[in-house]
Amino acid sequence: MNLLLENKINSELCNIFQKLELDDKFAFVKVSDRADLSDFQCNGALALAKIMHKNPREIGTAIAAELEKCDFCESISVDGPGFINIKLKNDFIAQNTDAMADDARLGCGITENPHKVILDYGGPNVAKTMHVGHLRSGVIGESVSRIERFVGNDVTCDVHLGDWGTPMGMILSEIILQDGNLDKVSSYDIAQITEFYKQANIRCKEDDNARENARRITAKLQGGDEQYRRAWEHLRNESIKAIKANYEQLDVNFDLWWGESDAHEACGEIVKIAQAKGISEVDAGAQIIRLAESNKPKPPVIIVKSDGAFGYQLTDIATIKLRADDLHADEIVYFTDNRQSLHFEQIFEVVQKLGIAPDVKLQHIMFGTVNGADGKPFKTRDGGVMDLETLIEMSKDKVRQSLPKPDEVEGYGADEINKLTQQIAVAAIKFQDLKNTIASGYVFELDDFAKFEGKTGPYIQYAVARINSVLRKADANGLQTGKIILEAPEERALALKLAQVHNVVMRAHTDKEPSIIAEYTHSLAQVFSTFYNACPMMSAATPELAFSRLKLAKLTRDILKLMLYLLGIEAPEIMLKAENK
Ligand code: ARG
Repeated sequence: MNLLLENKINSELCNIFQKLELDDKFAFVKVSDRADLSDFQCNGALALAKIMHKNPREIGTAIAAELEKCDFCESISVDGPGFINIKLKNDFIAQNTDAMADDARLGCGITENPHKVILDYGGPNVAKTMHVGHLRSGVIGESVSRIERFVGNDVTCDVHLGDWGTPMGMILSEIILQDGNLDKVSSYDIAQITEFYKQANIRCKEDDNARENARRITAKLQGGDEQYRRAWEHLRNESIKAIKANYEQLDVNFDLWWGESDAHEACGEIVKIAQAKGISEVDAGAQIIRLAESNKPKPPVIIVKSDGAFGYQLTDIATIKLRADDLHADEIVYFTDNRQSLHFEQIFEVVQKLGIAPDVKLQHIMFGTVNGADGKPFKTRDGGVMDLETLIEMSKDKVRQSLPKPDEVEGYGADEINKLTQQIAVAAIKFQDLKNTIASGYVFELDDFAKFEGKTGPYIQYAVARINSVLRKADANGLQTGKIILEAPEERALALKLAQVHNVVMRAHTDKEPSIIAEYTHSLAQVFSTFYNACPMMSAATPELAFSRLKLAKLTRDILKLMLYLLGIEAPEIMLKAENK
């Protein structure tokens, strides 16, 4: 059920437009730009006037005269060039709010077109430390996956591990160089493996032979060489363990842990299809696919390198085939930073040429980089790469400054405080990211992101916990929730804000833009705060009013919790604050 106040007004407007013989495609309202004048506005008269060459105010006045007869309008006015401003009756809003509170989905509807969506996010690489780009991809992807599921889509999330490219040959050859063979590989832990990769990276930058060797070993590994495969499997497994631990801390989840290597067989098929269709050609020993030179020339895609190895692009193309054939995807969405835009443009074009996923919608959602205060990519204070673990630790340190020490509060030992610290620290990191539109990069606000005030995750968690505490107290005093009565302007404003939730979720889903939810969540918490200060609950003038306000508070709490959930953020039942804060 979607409990939008607009629905009732729109259907009434539709009848009126038909009665007045006006095109009913303009019979809809939007939330008013002028909350002081009205709750909703209809701009249809302006659009119609242009088409019909009539005076917009005249059309507006005729519509308004009909609207006057409706039982849910408090007041109607035609303003400016012909805006129809509508203010709703309090009872009408209250009834809708009651219905939202009784609804399991809190008034949110589902998509009209449920389908199978594959989300490709995270994209970490074997043996490489995850950086803030992998963090952004994971945080955004997790939120979008929750939104997509909530609106009723069938969602599968795949991490698409980078496990099949030249870096694999680089580590293996580095280990052979240092150890003489691969005998000790199975004893290496993730720290050692990462270190080998770092050294291999430095070596390959300086030394052509080393690079050539790495390439040769990559081709052999892909070709099925037993010894390299065994060693590679260990590197892969150790990396997956470390990556899982990292993402677990952030509550970023995947249904599939497929990697580029899982597409190996399908890569072979793609090469054959391309040859059969006459799309590929041989160029300097490599097999390439040339792309249309339309408005923006794109470099050709190398599907098989001259040494026979498959590259990043081919593994992505083949993975699309697997997702279409085996997972029956209707839509595949990728989340990476904007440096990969050309890569995705190229592979989407190749997929179209090959005709391997004709009915699948392919979309690359790219994000900007996370910068430090200096406007350069975010680094640690000493200039090092900001990896995920460092970031979480830094956030926890900040949060600890606002929390009491273990055992300063009864019932809160080290375990409880640590859990709370983790929940708040992750909320701080995620909210700081998700409050920005995906496309824009942002500056990591080192000093403010974990504060309990301002536009932060902890502020919203705090708002939830504050309502939890009111509801606990009310319960202890035998106060219940009851029918909603809207009298004070702050009650009315809160109810109107709550009524926007369906639209907010649907917009976030259509645009794949969690920032719409983050923005709404913050503004709902603020509107609630104004209500809380103006409208006492426990000491309201009558029990009915107290029950009504408690119901408004409970619905706000439930919606805030749902919004946090959709952002991938936990809502602790209780929040603590250090004495001096
Ligand atoms: N592993 C890649 C990287 O670190 C990201 C993978 C993105 N997903 C994809 N299907 N290409 O840059």
